[in-house]
Amino acid sequence: MGMDFSVLIFILCYLLLRLRCVGALANQQVSLVGDSGMKRDGLRVAIEAWNFCNEVGSEAPLMGSPRAADCFDLSPGNQLEHKVDEAVNKLGVGQSFPGIDPEALKNPDLYAAAKELYLGSLCQAAEKPNPWQFWMLMLKNGNFDTTSGLCPKNGKKADPFPQPGNFPCFGKGCMNQPLLYHNQTSLSDKQMRGAFWGTYDLNANLSSGNEDITDISYFQVVWEKNVRTGSWIFYHKLKTSQKYPWLMLYLRADATKGYSGGYHYDTRGMLKTLPESPNFKVRLTLEVKRGGGPKSQFYLIDIGSCWKNNGKPCDGDVTTDVTRYSEMIINPETQAWCSPNNLNACPPFHITPDNIKIFRNDTAKFPYAAYHYYCSPGNAEHLESPSSLCDPYSNPQAQELLQLLPHPIWAAYGYPSKQGEGWIGDKRTWELDVGGLSSRLYFYQDPGTPPARRIWTSIDVGTEIFISNNEETAEWVLSDFDVVTTSS
Ligand SMILES: *[C@@H]1O[C@H](CO)[C@@H](O)[C@H](O)[C@H]1NC(C)=O
Ligand SMILES: *[C@@H]1O[C@H](CO)[C@@H](O)[C@H](O)[C@H]1NC(C)=O
Ligand SMILES: *[C@@H]1O[C@H](CO)[C@@H](O)[C@H](O)[C@H]1NC(C)=O
Repeated sequence: MGMDFSVLIFILCYLLLRLRCVGALANQQVSLVGDSGMKRDGLRVAIEAWNFCNEVGSEAPLMGSPRAADCFDLSPGNQLEHKVDEAVNKLGVGQSFPGIDPEALKNPDLYAAAKELYLGSLCQAAEKPNPWQFWMLMLKNGNFDTTSGLCPKNGKKADPFPQPGNFPCFGKGCMNQPLLYHNQTSLSDKQMRGAFWGTYDLNANLSSGNEDITDISYFQVVWEKNVRTGSWIFYHKLKTSQKYPWLMLYLRADATKGYSGGYHYDTRGMLKTLPESPNFKVRLTLEVKRGGGPKSQFYLIDIGSCWKNNGKPCDGDVTTDVTRYSEMIINPETQAWCSPNNLNACPPFHITPDNIKIFRNDTAKFPYAAYHYYCSPGNAEHLESPSSLCDPYSNPQAQELLQLLPHPIWAAYGYPSKQGEGWIGDKRTWELDVGGLSSRLYFYQDPGTPPARRIWTSIDVGTEIFISNNEETAEWVLSDFDVVTTSS
């Protein structure tokens, strides 16, 4: 539709004005997501749950593999035509479905990856030339049982080891998958509504949706839309507990094929064309209602990709692939760890919007307060000293992490320019020049290698409550999500 419209504009312009049309077309923004601005009546949404290293480990009892979807089209007569039924959502290891590899039938990690592809095949919107599948809700449990041997170290198989004390885990089974409940989207009074919710506490029973959640972990995503007007509105809630103090919940626009941020297998998603720095922006409306406490690293936004230290694209070899993340944390309680006295937590340099490079040892000019934390990939061989290595266990491959804080230096990109912007009481519609900003961020590469193409396979919004001391609850509302090109 967008293309036809632009051709029409072009012809009209050409006939009428000749010159101006070229400018008008150059500024035209093309959406890279299947459901531009979340405005389509037929919804495509899926949910996935990850353990500490983005795998399954073991499925929760009676829950099946932690991948489920709610996908439908709205017929002209206002019927919801669902594409995934609950029996499919409950499929778990050992249960066959079309296209599954026999190896995957026996392995909960491979099974979940295969189930995501199967759900994708059911949900796929057959748009040409780039079909797309769903928004992805991602849940992650940050507990890590180091004696389990479940997580590799920088992508290499690692032996179990005694708890060093810095990873939360209440004991055997702490890396469990959640209980997941689902209200399939239904229509009542011109409003469509559906939900996923659940808990990591396996002794809880939340099946009616309104139970007391004191002392237990909890997550909930409710989506609502009025027929034929406005955006889908996603209401999120995430609560930690003593047993589950580190939890993440994001809404992601992932790649429709290839490796999305944090994956090492083929994925399905919403980004029908992948955004590449510097030419893209992200639009969304965000209302943070409850922050989730001082440890809640609320991301507006998080971008993820993967490339090797020699700049080549990832190929699934987890020993040399490196997941790269950059995220702006908007919780004003989050302090900059990067400082003149703690250079290891800063990237080696900052690049200004007019492309001036400022080294981190330039204490008069470096914007320390704009950086929460930078850590280098654990398999980098030519690091500038001092450095700080990223956690080697929490992704299937080595990772690099660049965490930003609201700061005047980011205002040029439409990002929060001071602490508190976009936070509780400050609901906003953002237009973030994510492409421009991410083209100037530091990411590690081996010296002398050609710069990697910065193609982003995941764009996420949500929070990571990072080892809370108390039970904490975050609540936020997201709508109007779009990713658009800023030049052709
Ligand atoms: C959970 O509660 C529902 C309704 O109260 C009940 O029907 C169901 O059997 C319970 N499930 C378990 C596993 O206890
Ligand atoms: C699920 O649907 C039931 C029945 O309509 C409702 O009572 C409950 O609040 C819903 N749960 C969520 C999380 O929206
Ligand atoms: C600052 O860091 C840069 C890059 O590492 C280095 O070339 C320069 O010599 C350093 N300057 C000082 C004064 O240490």
